[in-house]
Amino acid sequence: MRMGGSRADELRPERSRAFTFWGLSPGLALVLALVGVSGVTALDNGLALTPTMGWLHWERFTCNVDCMEDPENCISEQLFMQMAEVMVSEGWKDVGYEYVCIDDCWLASQRDKDGRLQADPKRFPRGIRHLANYVHSKGLKLGIYQDVGTLTCAGYPGSFGYYDIDAETFADWGVDLLKFDGCYAKDVKSLVEGYKYMSYALNKTGRSILYSCEWPLYMRPHQQPNYTEIRQYCNHWRNYGDIFDSWSSVKNILAWTASHQKSLVPAAGPGGWNDPDMLVIGNFGLSWDQQITQMALWAIMAAPLFMSNDLRNISPQSKALLQNKDVIAINQDPLGKQGYQLRKDEDFEVWQRPLSDLAWAVAVLNQREIGGPGTYTISTTALGEGLGCAPACLITQILPVKKELGLYEWTSQLKVRVNPTGTVLLKLQTFQQDKFPKMSP
Ligand SMILES: *[C@@H]1O[C@H](CO)[C@@H](O)[C@H](O)[C@H]1NC(C)=O
Ligand SMILES: *[C@@H]1O[C@H](CO)[C@@H](O)[C@H](O)[C@H]1NC(C)=O
Repeated sequence: MRMGGSRADELRPERSRAFTFWGLSPGLALVLALVGVSGVTALDNGLALTPTMGWLHWERFTCNVDCMEDPENCISEQLFMQMAEVMVSEGWKDVGYEYVCIDDCWLASQRDKDGRLQADPKRFPRGIRHLANYVHSKGLKLGIYQDVGTLTCAGYPGSFGYYDIDAETFADWGVDLLKFDGCYAKDVKSLVEGYKYMSYALNKTGRSILYSCEWPLYMRPHQQPNYTEIRQYCNHWRNYGDIFDSWSSVKNILAWTASHQKSLVPAAGPGGWNDPDMLVIGNFGLSWDQQITQMALWAIMAAPLFMSNDLRNISPQSKALLQNKDVIAINQDPLGKQGYQLRKDEDFEVWQRPLSDLAWAVAVLNQREIGGPGTYTISTTALGEGLGCAPACLITQILPVKKELGLYEWTSQLKVRVNPTGTVLLKLQTFQQDKFPKMSP
């Protein structure tokens, strides 16, 4: 089962007998060679030009298959239909959340007699095609889950040996996104070749299907991932273990990302993104300030925004945070550059992200877990690679609440007060010399 960062150790010996997959590999090798020489830098499917936004069941609903005991929360067509309904009626779709995504545990325990995947007949009595039609009728898109290995992480039939037939099945059903997990791959070679093969198989269906990978997560314990290569096959990729509904989990993801930012940040851009996993805002484990931190930093990291919460029952405060248009605009900024940690002092971290139109997003995070709000002062010359406020900039606080902080000169000191484990998110707007507003004396 899924266990934090240790899941990458689950590469296990293949259980079923050897399959004829490698008998197909000359064709694959040719295709891969063609893709390779075409010099593409991102997966060429026209998707994920900005980070994907939607809802994904895993963190909140896990592998709950007990519809007798817990009909409201089990993994069933009803859950996804209700989520789709609420996404439209409660304004989620209007602010950009578009994909309704199924994670593990949707499958029947066996393929059908033709080798095709089938949904659990009790929990999805009308099948995935019906669910896709319903989701499309709401103007939304449907995501599904499978695994590169012989089994999914929860032990349902995996795609290994069936990549083409599974891609065709998903396309037939009208699926719009595939989250492809990495449990039960035979070894690193079959993991990597499997991820590539599925990318090709999806393309071959002719349907635009967004491809969400976990390739680097499962590869890293054995070999350094090559992000130039991963970008050519995937629209986003998980690097680190599953998120949990806790501050320590969010904190670990941020610390890991910062410590690997030299390789991660250049890999991100329109068409391909680093995926630090789901937003757990609106659940049980994060304080209000920690929810603000997750939202702010996921925007700085240009992360896909997949909420995993119960949209049927969410506090107005968490809803407003997740629907905050200014934060979403930072996440979705068309320049498509991922932000990074600029500095880390004893208690504070400063992160920044370059935005289009000569703007910068800056997040100041207070890591202190004792005491009250802390004051942090930074010279504006340190921000925006030295030019964030040259010759001057207009600073707007976006979170925790929107507030105009006014015009700052290049050499001003910026002072913010940040709650423990909370974040202040700012937007710095610089001006071209000629468009520079008159400073008041
Ligand atoms: C398949 O790949 C080709 C070449 O990279 C691309 O032009 C085409 O749009 C892709 N098709 C789909 C459905 O993703
Ligand atoms: C990474 O992959 C790219 C594209 O396939 C390739 O050109 C490059 O040589 C690889 N880098 C390393 C270090 O293997």
